[in-house]
Amino acid sequence: MSQKEVYYKDYLQLDKILNAQALESDAAGVDAHDEMLFIVIHQAYELWFKQVLFEVDSILDIFNSPKLEDNDPTLQTVVHRCNRINTILKVLVEQMNIMETMTSLDFLDFRDLLRPASGFQSVQWKELEAKLGLAFEARHGKHYYTSQLRPEDVDQVKQNERATSLLEYLNVWLERMPFMHDATIWGEAFESNPTDHPFWKSYRDVYTGSLLEIESANIEQFDSVMFGIGEQNKGRRLSPKACRAALFITLYQGYPMLQQPYQLLDALLETDTLMATWRSRHMNMVGRMIGTRVGTGNSSGRGYLKAAMDKHYVFQELAQLNGLLVRRGALPELPDALRARLGFGG
Ligand code: HEM
Repeated sequence: MSQKEVYYKDYLQLDKILNAQALESDAAGVDAHDEMLFIVIHQAYELWFKQVLFEVDSILDIFNSPKLEDNDPTLQTVVHRCNRINTILKVLVEQMNIMETMTSLDFLDFRDLLRPASGFQSVQWKELEAKLGLAFEARHGKHYYTSQLRPEDVDQVKQNERATSLLEYLNVWLERMPFMHDATIWGEAFESNPTDHPFWKSYRDVYTGSLLEIESANIEQFDSVMFGIGEQNKGRRLSPKACRAALFITLYQGYPMLQQPYQLLDALLETDTLMATWRSRHMNMVGRMIGTRVGTGNSSGRGYLKAAMDKHYVFQELAQLNGLLVRRGALPELPDALRARLGFGG
C-alpha cells in the first residue's frame, strides 16, 4: 500500500493559521506595532483552550460510559488527562508574561479600534467553565454574556450548561463508592441514617475533639456537609453521600484502592486553583494596563474580573472538605475486612 506523502506545512495547515492575523490598525492606516502580539497571543490561548476542551470532553465521555467502575483502568486515563489539563493551564498562566511586555501606551495605539470585542466573548473559555460545572446562576454578571455574545454563541454556551458537567459526574461517581454499606464489613447493611454508621459516629467524635474552642461551631458545618442536617446545606452541588466518600478517600488516600481516586480529587482542586491563578494574573495585568477604565467589552473592567475570580470556583465544595480532616494519628482504625479490601489484594 503506497502511503500519501505528508508535507509539514500542509499537515499543520499553516497557510491558514499563519495568514489569520488581520490587524485592525493596518486596515485603519494606524501605526500600532503591538497589535500583532495582541492577536497572536489571543490565538495561542484559544488553541490551548481547544486542547483543554478536547481533554475535558474525553473525560466527560469516560464518566458517561457504564464502564467506569471503581476498579476500571480508565480512571487512570481520567487522572492522566486532568494532569495534562493542569500542565497546559500552568503554561497559560505563564503566557501572561508575554502579554505584559506590551505597555499601556502600546495598547492605546489600537485599543479603540477593538470595541466592543473582548476576551469576554471567548466562547471556549465560557464553555470550559460550563463543562467543568459553573452554573449560569452562579456566574457573576450573567447579563454580560447573554448580551455581549452573538445569539448562536450564547446557545453554544447554554448547551454546555444544560449538559451533565464534570462536577455532576463527580457527584454520581463519589456516591457510588462501595464499602460503607457493605454488611460483610460492618455486620449490617447500613442503608439507613449515616449518622448511625459506626465509622461516621466515631469520626465525628474525633473531629469534634480536634476543634479549638473558638471553632466549636464547625461541628454544625460538619453535620450539614456530611449528613445534610440544617440550612447550610442548601444550594450545595455535592450531596452529603458524595462528600462522605470524598472525605473518606482523602483520609485514607494511602491505601492502594484509594490512591487514584485521591489523585483525581487533587487534580480537580488543582484545576480550580490554576483557573483562579489565570484569572488573577489576567486581572492584575488588566488593572495595570487600563487602570479603572471600562473594558472594551463594556464591563466594569478590573472590578468585573475580580468578582468573577472570587465567584467562579467550581470545586470549592471539595476544598471545603479539607477543613473537616483530622490528623493521621487520630484516624479511626478501619475494620480488618475493609483494610483488606483497600489493599493490593482487594
Ligand atoms: C491588553 C491585554 C488585555 C486586556 C486589557 C484585557 C481586558 C479585559 C477586560 C477588561 C475584560 C472584562 C470584559 C470587558 O469589559 O472587556 C476581559 C475579559 C476576558 N479576557 Fe482579557 N484582556 C487582555 C488580554 C487577554 C488575553 C491575552 C486573553 C487570553 C485569552 C484574555 C482573555 C479574556 C477572557 C477569557 C475574558 C473573560 C473573563 C470572564 O468572563 O471571566 N484577555 N479582558
